[in-house]
Amino acid sequence: MHAYRAALLRFADDGSAIYDADGLLVVGPDAQGRQVVRAAGAHSRLAANYPGVATEHLPGRIIAPGFIDLHIHFPQTDVIGSPSAGLLPWLQDYTFPQEARFADPTHSDAMATVFLDELARHGVTTALAFCTSHPGSVDSLMQEAQRRGLRMIAGKVLQDRHSPDGVRDETQQSLEDTESLIRRWHGTDRLGYAITPRFAPSCSEAQLRGAGELAAKYPGVWIQSHVAENKDEIAWARQLFPGSRSYLSVYDDFGLMRERAIYAHCIHFDDEDRALMRSTGAAAAVSPTSNLFLGSGFFDFEGADRIGFRYGLASDVGGGTSFSPFHTMLAAYYVGREGQTKPGVSLSPQHLWWQHTAGGARALGLEGTVGNLQPGCEADFIVLDPRAMPLLARKVGHATSIDELLFAMIVLGDDRIVERVVIAGA
Ligand code: GUN
Ligand code: ZN
Repeated sequence: MHAYRAALLRFADDGSAIYDADGLLVVGPDAQGRQVVRAAGAHSRLAANYPGVATEHLPGRIIAPGFIDLHIHFPQTDVIGSPSAGLLPWLQDYTFPQEARFADPTHSDAMATVFLDELARHGVTTALAFCTSHPGSVDSLMQEAQRRGLRMIAGKVLQDRHSPDGVRDETQQSLEDTESLIRRWHGTDRLGYAITPRFAPSCSEAQLRGAGELAAKYPGVWIQSHVAENKDEIAWARQLFPGSRSYLSVYDDFGLMRERAIYAHCIHFDDEDRALMRSTGAAAAVSPTSNLFLGSGFFDFEGADRIGFRYGLASDVGGGTSFSPFHTMLAAYYVGREGQTKPGVSLSPQHLWWQHTAGGARALGLEGTVGNLQPGCEADFIVLDPRAMPLLARKVGHATSIDELLFAMIVLGDDRIVERVVIAGA
């Protein structure tokens, strides 16, 4: 066992933050040998229970759960910052050409290292990631994630139509590849697989049907896709699937909505769509830097909470502009505030942080496993040094509440305050 003495941030079941200014985090193996949180709380309350345990004292530092990125594209690392007239031209002009390069395993392996280094530098310890349509891109990412001991979830993109040469796959082969990748990677160490139809317009009915059959055959496997991001995309999807009630319903009609299904964006929804999210147990990956960058629209937090479906935060790199959870939380705040196209709300700093940690874990069905530092959670955490940035150091010095402290880091912080990342206690 090993212990850390520092300020400690974790979350209660209702999503509120628990903050110990002088906390103790005790890490050690559970019955299965996984490195987990054995105890967390005030140093004054816990220290006497762990007399012989080596304790690292980290004055001025904050220990917090590793961030969870609910939606990111590993092959779009170099696509960040590509300007375009909205989603569909951006895909054609920048994204598909970059993704085509992942047919080459040398490129794919090299980019897996770059990608996982970036996530780590920004304090992200779990992500739900798109790879490309090339099965080898999944092997590249999974092998490197396995080497690092990460809890990572990823999948091969399915896109058998309306996609250029170089990224388009073939229906039957794509489903066979998906199933062999599930067998190879799902449940291997801490890795998980996600069935990954790119979005309804890029998938034939046969491919969506096959994806739904795999989702039923492997209920522990995740599903990830995009929905209701952009008005042109929605019009296209409606034209291609005229028999479905809405764009979101297309996925339901093919058996792709259930627990562990994560849909990126979910912006242009009506209440029936929201109710479908709730009743199926699917969750939204809210991707605010991407939505602002591509001009897609504003996620309606009030609508989501009013109907009551699950959501969490995501970078959506490379539509998104940053790997930084701090930048994503701030953009989510801006998007929440927007009150001209939907009700404007002020998301609390605790709620923003929860959405990027314990809330993301809940959306993934991994509540109590990652995204929190309650006893039993896997020991993935970050050490923050808010004094690493001068203006933030001043602001943190003046904070009189947990919300003021967290908001100072959300507004002013970035990877410069992520001093250390601990994966599975190491
Ligand atoms: N819709 C289909 N593919 C993509 C993608 O790569 N990024 C985003 N943001 N939306 C998509
Ligand atoms: Zn995306």
